Amino acid sequence: MLNRTKYPKIDRNALCWCGSGRKYKQCHMAFDDKIRLAEMKGREVPAKKLLKKEDDVEGIRASAAINMAVLDEVADQIRIGMSTEEIDRIVYETTTKMGGKPAPLGYEGFPKSVCTSLNDEVCHGIPSPDIILKDGDIINVDVSTIFNGYYSDSSRMFLLGNVDEETKKLVRVAKECVEIGIANTKPWQYLGDMGHAVHQHALDNGYSVVRQIGGHGCGFEFHEDPWVSYVSSPGSGMLMVPGMVFTIEPMVNMGRDEIYEDEKNHWTIYTEDGKPSAQWEVEVLVTENGCEVLCS
Ligand code: MF3
Ligand code: CO
Repeated sequence: MLNRTKYPKIDRNALCWCGSGRKYKQCHMAFDDKIRLAEMKGREVPAKKLLKKEDDVEGIRASAAINMAVLDEVADQIRIGMSTEEIDRIVYETTTKMGGKPAPLGYEGFPKSVCTSLNDEVCHGIPSPDIILKDGDIINVDVSTIFNGYYSDSSRMFLLGNVDEETKKLVRVAKECVEIGIANTKPWQYLGDMGHAVHQHALDNGYSVVRQIGGHGCGFEFHEDPWVSYVSSPGSGMLMVPGMVFTIEPMVNMGRDEIYEDEKNHWTIYTEDGKPSAQWEVEVLVTENGCEVLCS
């Protein structure tokens, strides 16, 4: 009979698959049993190849150090009157100087090194010399780095000059949504538990969360399993297991959740109602006790 489980039984006295050098029964046997139990109940569980070992986590941390330094550099230099093309140049130069490669550049044909999404742009805005930052704008700068084969991904919001109070609140609540996501990322619970808590906070403030685009596993690849929704029911989605790495990046809209794609560039996503959208992104590692933010 075919063994369809992602966690087939291993001899108790064999060496553990994790590379610890210990016997399986003294290492990951109980861990695998827990996952197999959820799988047998019909739940979605992570494939073993998604789980990051300590040296993988070190690799992601090194990539994330570059990613966060790039965002710090953008924070230092961003100002009214600057074009989003200039942000792209800062990202490219800072990343490559530190030995990294911007992950967006050439990714599925994406033409630039970073996504810059202004006001009613939800995500995947393409930097351009024609887009000039002006007083009252809000912008998401989404940076992703490849270093030594490992991927990191995070984004921050920047406020330019005098942003109106309503829009400032949107940016603040979008950040709180991520903090709530972090607090609800715990092993042996489900991604849907986390996503539901995030969504609830946006709803409590009269906002909506984009449904069609979410977070993703990250580390070995730019986008890997699982897909992470922030409009989800408790108990749904993949089981969170120590060693999983994924992003928390809800797109919070001031108005309705509907979006559309730019019909010319086929990348930029806008809110259907033209109201602003805000997004912060972190990359987290599920640990034994909760999670650790690897990149922010
Ligand atoms: N950085 C985005 C994310 O968080 C992905 C952008 S894909 C790109 O998933 F090609 F537009 F860069
Ligand atoms: Co991402």
